Amino acid sequence: MRSLGLIYLLFFCGLHAASAADVTTELSTLMKRIIWINRNGSHNIEFNSDVILNTPEIITKAGYPAEAHVVMTEDGYLLTLHRIPGGNDSLPVLLQHGILGSSADWVILGKGKALAYLLADQGYDVWLGNFRGNTYSKTHVSLSPSNSTFWDFSFNELGIYDLPAMITFIMNKRSQPLHTYIGHSMGTTTFYVMSSERPEITQMVKIMISLAPTAFINHLKSPIRYLVPFWKMFQKMMQFFFHGEFLRSDFVRFFTKYGCGRGFSKKICSHAMFLIFGYDKEQFNNTLQPVILSHDPAGTSAKTLTHYIQMIQSSKFCQYDYGRKKNQLIYNSTEPPNYNLANIMVPVALIYSKNDWLISIEDVKKLYHLLPNVVDMYEVPWSSFNHIDFLWANDAPKLVYERILKIMRNEKPSNLTSME
Ligand SMILES: *[C@@H]1O[C@H](CO)[C@@H](O)[C@H](O)[C@H]1NC(C)=O
Ligand SMILES: *[C@@H]1O[C@H](CO)[C@@H](O)[C@H](O)[C@H]1NC(C)=O
Ligand SMILES: *[C@@H]1O[C@H](CO)[C@@H](O)[C@H](O)[C@H]1NC(C)=O
Ligand SMILES: *[C@@H]1O[C@H](CO)[C@@H](O)[C@H](O)[C@H]1NC(C)=O
Ligand SMILES: *[C@@H]1O[C@H](CO)[C@@H](O)[C@H](O)[C@H]1NC(C)=O
Repeated sequence: MRSLGLIYLLFFCGLHAASAADVTTELSTLMKRIIWINRNGSHNIEFNSDVILNTPEIITKAGYPAEAHVVMTEDGYLLTLHRIPGGNDSLPVLLQHGILGSSADWVILGKGKALAYLLADQGYDVWLGNFRGNTYSKTHVSLSPSNSTFWDFSFNELGIYDLPAMITFIMNKRSQPLHTYIGHSMGTTTFYVMSSERPEITQMVKIMISLAPTAFINHLKSPIRYLVPFWKMFQKMMQFFFHGEFLRSDFVRFFTKYGCGRGFSKKICSHAMFLIFGYDKEQFNNTLQPVILSHDPAGTSAKTLTHYIQMIQSSKFCQYDYGRKKNQLIYNSTEPPNYNLANIMVPVALIYSKNDWLISIEDVKKLYHLLPNVVDMYEVPWSSFNHIDFLWANDAPKLVYERILKIMRNEKPSNLTSME
């Protein structure tokens, strides 16, 4: 435990010295290594080295080739696209993580199980996106993350800038349209935003698969709904302490890693996760918890959370609400305009679950009725399947990924759930 003091010291010195983002990144890597050595010494913990590896390192360790590409958005953010390259004739697929997630989410489940590997095994060219503000995309051509202008974005900008930049990059690289876009949670919201605001880019995608489709969220069951009335205060704090970043991700990960490390506190952390996302003990692999908590939360802006909170309050899927006066200036209307779901001509598959405490079935039904071209509507056949089970459930391959591969092969799903 002596090194704990040392880490604290390094960490806080780092925080103060860290006008440059790379100082904290280095420090965080150093921290991980110290923690690793510490844990390795105390043999009582099952250790998975994925805790200290980044996405390409995890992929390489699993025996697959890995690449990283940097893509610039029209507004100057530098995003990292990870890739498990396929052969020359392979079909490109883009997997896009949800809020506070990263490309690592798609590989944490491990070889033979994680969606990214299953797709690579089927011969697809697998691309893993990273939205601005997360661990891998925390750079801008001129803005530093310590400047609050860097964090002045919501999922709106992820949809109108980040996705078009990534999709265009893949298209140029492969000289063919994107065969499939697969999004989880916010990875679906941003696709709907892009489809509404940048339909010319969306035309370059052949099919879109939504895991936990997130356009309406006002029926959420998670107790986080009780925090909604206090959000304004949180947002002010986030602005004051973190320049508008939602918490400070390496800061939070540091504490969850220590706080959730062992025994009783590990249980408390699992319960906290279940409380946010829905209870599903049976599908959750406790061995993966330290790996998940070392990669997530991977960072986003407080404004993104605020935009979701507004959606809970308004029951609408619309642009960011700046208040009547500023809305008038920006949108030429006192109310923020709705995103136009009728614009989404791309075939969409909706995959959802009963015990998702963030996305309830009522909200998915509403979306289903507004989308013009739904090709599959699939309820995961596991009654306690929750929001994060789409990524990390023990049986995700059988319950969800088999269906995805079927849809991608353009096989008619046998039991399209009726929604009438
Ligand atoms: C961790 O422990 C294993 C065996 O217990 C040993 O082979 C390995 O070298 C150790 N790693 C470090 C970084 O100490
Ligand atoms: C793939 O394409 C590259 C460049 O076009 C070429 O050099 C290589 O031989 C091709 N590989 C196969 C297996 O066709
Ligand atoms: C943040 O960036 C903006 C835009 O480049 C600049 O005008 C402002 O001075 C910067 N603020 C700080 C505190 O560096
Ligand atoms: C703003 O909205 C008004 C009324 O809806 C419309 O008449 C006007 O043309 C709009 N102005 C612009 C610049 O779009
Ligand atoms: C849990 O994860 C570990 C580490 O990846 C793996 O070895 C084990 O098989 C998993 N357990 C189940 C039930 O899938």
